[in-house]
Amino acid sequence: MTDSWSASNYDTHASFVPKLGNIILDKLDAKPSERILDFGCGDGVLTQQLAQKCHTVVGIDASPDMIAKAKQLRQGIAEYHVADGHCLDDWFDEQKQEPFDAVFSSATLHWLKEPAKAIRGIHHVLKPNGRMVAEFGGFMNCGEVHTALITAMNRRGHDGKALSPWYFPSEAEYSKLLEANGFRVDSIELVPRMTQLNTDIAGWLTTFGFAFLEVLKTEQERQEVLAEIMEHLRPVYQREDGKWFIMYVRLRVVAYKQ
Ligand code: BEZ
Repeated sequence: MTDSWSASNYDTHASFVPKLGNIILDKLDAKPSERILDFGCGDGVLTQQLAQKCHTVVGIDASPDMIAKAKQLRQGIAEYHVADGHCLDDWFDEQKQEPFDAVFSSATLHWLKEPAKAIRGIHHVLKPNGRMVAEFGGFMNCGEVHTALITAMNRRGHDGKALSPWYFPSEAEYSKLLEANGFRVDSIELVPRMTQLNTDIAGWLTTFGFAFLEVLKTEQERQEVLAEIMEHLRPVYQREDGKWFIMYVRLRVVAYKQ
């Protein structure tokens, strides 16, 4: 499988993502005796913070480039593996991993287009009564950029909606999925969060919008789409001082394996 992620692009354009992970890390409230799985650990910045709070932390991510970066940052107890979040149960069985007290996930679950499969995998790797504590994109997340991408692709003869790699559920939809797959929902909330970007919309799009941009045939066409979306959003999403913002909507979930 090709790896569309670039750890260096992520560091330049999206280092705000792990920095904003502190709220869900606090909700996890990791204990010194606990064994925790970081599901979608990316470059390992949050995983290292988690490692200071618990006994063992194992980070998994589908991107080999991100896992290579995480291994460079590693200090102490964190362990990292490349693994597809849709096949967590297979990875766990093949690796003969021990069950986890908790599965933690920040800014990842919206990339899994088969959410029930991901939830069943998380259920499989938890101890009885283990908890899942996750934050990811919920209903209307990054709505303006998402809509602009879909529109730009539709205009060029592609099916923009079908190209979207993201799943942004409502609280009701995700609660139903959790309950249907063996979890008791302790809390779930959608939280809008105005988010300042490291760079600009084009930087954000090249880091996260690759599923759309990759289908365009030429670099010129890609540059046209980036410029079109930047200019479309500039009047409202660029502040007076030149800084760019996107309205993120986070879904924060705490659920227990039944
Ligand atoms: C998010 O963290 O919500 C997100 C990241 C990339 C693309 C879309 C959403």
